[in-house]
Amino acid sequence: MSRVSRLIFRAAVVAILMAAGGTIIYAASKVIDPFKQVKQMRRGVNIIGYDPIWKDFDKRRFQEKHFKLIRKAGFQTVRINLHGFDHMDATGKLDESFLTTLDWAVENALSNNLNVILDLHNYTDVAKDPASYKPKFLAFWRQIATRYKDSSNHVMFEILNEPNGELTPQLWNEYLREALNVIRETNFTRNVVIGPAYWNSIDHLSELELPKNDRQIIVTVHYYKPMAFTHQGAPWSPENKDLSGVKWGTEAEKRIVEDDFARVQEWSKANNRPILLGEFGAYDKGDIESRVAYTSCLARTAESFGWAWTYWQFDSDFIVYDIDKEQWVKPIQKALIP
Ligand code: BGC
Repeated sequence: MSRVSRLIFRAAVVAILMAAGGTIIYAASKVIDPFKQVKQMRRGVNIIGYDPIWKDFDKRRFQEKHFKLIRKAGFQTVRINLHGFDHMDATGKLDESFLTTLDWAVENALSNNLNVILDLHNYTDVAKDPASYKPKFLAFWRQIATRYKDSSNHVMFEILNEPNGELTPQLWNEYLREALNVIRETNFTRNVVIGPAYWNSIDHLSELELPKNDRQIIVTVHYYKPMAFTHQGAPWSPENKDLSGVKWGTEAEKRIVEDDFARVQEWSKANNRPILLGEFGAYDKGDIESRVAYTSCLARTAESFGWAWTYWQFDSDFIVYDIDKEQWVKPIQKALIP
């Protein structure tokens, strides 16, 4: 639909609804075209995935003021990493304290004009044994979708971070469809973020099958190549944990990123789906010059294609903000937002 016909269509919908009593106009005008949403999301950061806040709200590192700081620094989006399975009873019911904390996070993000992505981050569980975690996976989305169905459309749902392992590309295509159906029972027009299997790898985009008639979808990819640089010294990365001194920043290395992203852009155009670079960054053990060069190259290249991005991450590791010192990690922050 062209821009003009879209406007005419919207005006017609509004007129019909006004004639019908005018109550549903808000819902009709709330729909955000996913390409437009990605434009608004622009620059973002992953937050509170590994914060003690989920175990004990009083022990939280991340405070209300950090939402304001994030917005003031020039970010427009936060991606909240949720380990929802860790806060469920045997029937899959999410506990109240988890939901209350999540309400707090969503409200604070929205009141600071930040877009919010609610990202289910129990990816390791599902990857190990998809079938036994499936009830929890669907229960999570049934509850979250219902709870936030009337929230602003600046809240988005991300079905699952980095599907991998036993959750093969083929199985993931089934699981994402089922979760999307659950979400669509209550959230007809909310944009939902979905990425390819194999850790949201750009190399597996072609295997991602999305329902053709659902256009309220944003496609996400993660980029940590080359792993020997971005994960050097990272204890959870067996092949890279003993590496150190790996540098990054030659013209050839930058070209690889540009070529990789250009291939994603081709896929995006061919499939008419907007792109979010949902995670990228280099672990704190690499030298800072290389990390700055890498972070800046990825952010600028993503922006040159009109994608949104969310840096990994605010606190914990790969940090862009030092909560203990109450200051930005300036070189990284500047690399993200020049
Ligand atoms: C994981 C983190 C990890 C990061 C980079 C994220 O998706 O949740 O634990 O630090 O990827 O490897």
